[in-house]
Amino acid sequence: MSDKQYDLVVIGGGPGGYVAAIRAAQLGMATACVEGRGALGGTCLNIGCIPSKALLQSSEKYADATKHFAEHGIKVDGLSLDLPAMMGRKDKVVKNLTGGIEFLFKKNKIDYIKGWGSIPAAGSVKVALADGGEQVLQTKTILIATGSESTPLPGVETDEKQIVTSTGALALDKVPEHLVVIGAGVIGLEMGSVWSRLGAKVTVVEFLDRILPGMDGEIAKQTQRVLTKQGLKFKLGTKVTAAKNAKAGVTLTLEPAKGGEAEEMKAAVVLVAIGRRPFTDGLGLQELGVAMDNRGVIQVDKHFQTSVPGIYAIGDCVPGPMLAHKAEEDGVVAVECLAGQSSHIDYNMVPGVVYTWPEVASVGKTEEQLKEEGVDYRVGKFPFTANSRAQAVGDTDGVVKILADKRTDKVLGVHILGPLAGDILAEAVTVMEFGGSAEDIARTCHSHPGMGEAVKEAALAVDGRALHI
Ligand code: FAD
Ligand code: NAI
Repeated sequence: MSDKQYDLVVIGGGPGGYVAAIRAAQLGMATACVEGRGALGGTCLNIGCIPSKALLQSSEKYADATKHFAEHGIKVDGLSLDLPAMMGRKDKVVKNLTGGIEFLFKKNKIDYIKGWGSIPAAGSVKVALADGGEQVLQTKTILIATGSESTPLPGVETDEKQIVTSTGALALDKVPEHLVVIGAGVIGLEMGSVWSRLGAKVTVVEFLDRILPGMDGEIAKQTQRVLTKQGLKFKLGTKVTAAKNAKAGVTLTLEPAKGGEAEEMKAAVVLVAIGRRPFTDGLGLQELGVAMDNRGVIQVDKHFQTSVPGIYAIGDCVPGPMLAHKAEEDGVVAVECLAGQSSHIDYNMVPGVVYTWPEVASVGKTEEQLKEEGVDYRVGKFPFTANSRAQAVGDTDGVVKILADKRTDKVLGVHILGPLAGDILAEAVTVMEFGGSAEDIARTCHSHPGMGEAVKEAALAVDGRALHI
C-alpha cells in the first residue's frame, strides 16, 4: 500500500477520465489516473474517434484523386493505393496524440498508474499493475470513467479478422471485396464510407426501416440518398440471424425484421456495429452496491455521484450520448462540483457529428421530437446547391435545417447535411446555449463566400426571407 493520500483517483484514461484528471489537478487536487490499456486516450484516441478520422481523411483524399480531381482539370496517371502506408500514418497520428496526454499528465503532476483498477471499498482503489504486482491507492474520491465496448450480436461471433468490431475495421490488412456492415448507425456509415472509398463493395444491413436513428428523419433520408449515390448499398428492415465464418469468407443469414423468408449473403468481411454498452467489468460495482440499470449503465445524480457516497462516474458508462466531447464535459462538471463550484451540462446541447462526406451534424431537438412533444415550430431550410462556396468547391450535396419555436423564434434544433457540417454547426450550438433565436443568426454577418452562409440563409428562411433561393 502506498502512503500517499489522493484527493481523486480516476479509473480510466479516456476523454472523460484524462480531462477530469487534468481539471482536478488545475483545481489543486492530488490526482492519480489508473489506465489498463497501456496508453492514455481511451477508446477515442486509440480505437475510435482519431484513427477513424485519420482513415476517413486518407480515404477521402483517395476518392478525390480517383473520382473528383478530373472535374477540377487535374489528371493523375498511375494512381495506386498503399494501404500499409495509410495504416502507418493513422497509427502515427494515434501515437502522437496519446503521447501528448502523457506529457499533459506530467505537466499537471498527475500520477499515471498503469494497470487495471478495482474498488474494494469507497476510499480505495486496487490496481493490478501492468508490470506485475499490486498497488492500493487511498483517496477521498473515486471517479469511474471506464467507458464502453461494442455490443455483441448473438449468432455473429467476432474474430477481429473476418467478423470485426470497429477495432478490426480500423486495421484490415487488405480492402475486402465485399464488406457487410450490420447497423446503419454512426460507426457503420463512417467505416462503410472508408472501405467503400478504398474500393470495397459495401452493403449496410439495418434492423430499422431508416438509417441513423435519433437523427432528424428528413436529414437521415437525404444522407441515405447521398451515400447510395456514392456506392453504398442499404438493406433496411432486415436482421442478421446467423453467421458462418469460413476460410473463404462469411455467410450471413438475413431475415426481414418483421418476419418472412430468410436469405443468405456472402461477405469477405462483416462489421458488427449495432451500438456500444458500458464497460465496467472487474470494478466490483455489484459488491459495492453501485446502482446500474438493466443495461449496466451506472446511475448518477446531477453532480455525477453514484448511489455510493464518494464514488462518481462519467462518460460512456453513465446515461447520455456516447460521445467523447460529452465525456469530457461530464468530467469537468463532476470535478468542478467536487471542488464546490456550480457547474452543469445540458445533454440537449451536445452536438453529434457523423464524419461521412458530406458530414451530418445535429444539435437539439429533431422535427420528430418536436411533433411528439406537441411544440409549435417553424422550419427554415437552405440547400448547399444555392451556396456559392459549395459551388466553387464542388460540394453541393446537403441542406441546413433550422427548427425554431413558432411563438418566440428560439432555436430548438439545427440539423445539417453538408460539407464541414460538423464545424459550421458550432455557431448554432453557441446560439442555442445562449437561448438565441433564428433572428439572431439571420442578423449576424457571415463571411462570404462561406459554407456558414447556408446557416444564415436557413435562419432567414425560418421567417420566409431567404435571399439566395
Ligand atoms: P473510453 O474512451 O472508452 O475510455 C475508458 C478507458 O478506461 C479505456 O481506455 C479503458 O482501457 C479504461 N479502463 C476500463 N476499465 C478499466 C479499469 N478497470 N482499470 C483501468 N482502466 C480501465 N465520439 C466522438 O465524440 N466523436 C467521434 O468521432 C467518435 N468516433 C468514434 C469512432 C469509433 C470507431 C468508436 C468506437 C467510438 C467513437 N466515438 C466518437 C465515441 C468515443 O470514443 C467515446 O464516446 C469516448 O471515448 C468515451 O470516453 P470515456 O472516457 O467515457 O471512455
Ligand atoms: P449506433 O447506436 O449509432 O447505431 C447502431 C445501429 O445498429 C442502429 O441503427 C440500430 O438500429 C442498428 N441495429 C441494432 N441492432 C441491430 C441488429 N440486430 N441488426 C441490424 N441493425 C441493428 O451505434 P454504433 O454505430 O455502433 O456506434 C456506437 C457509439 O459510438 C454511438 O453511440 C456513437 O455515438 C459513438 N460513435 C460516435 C461517432 C461520432 O461521433 N462521429 C463515430 C462512431 C461512433
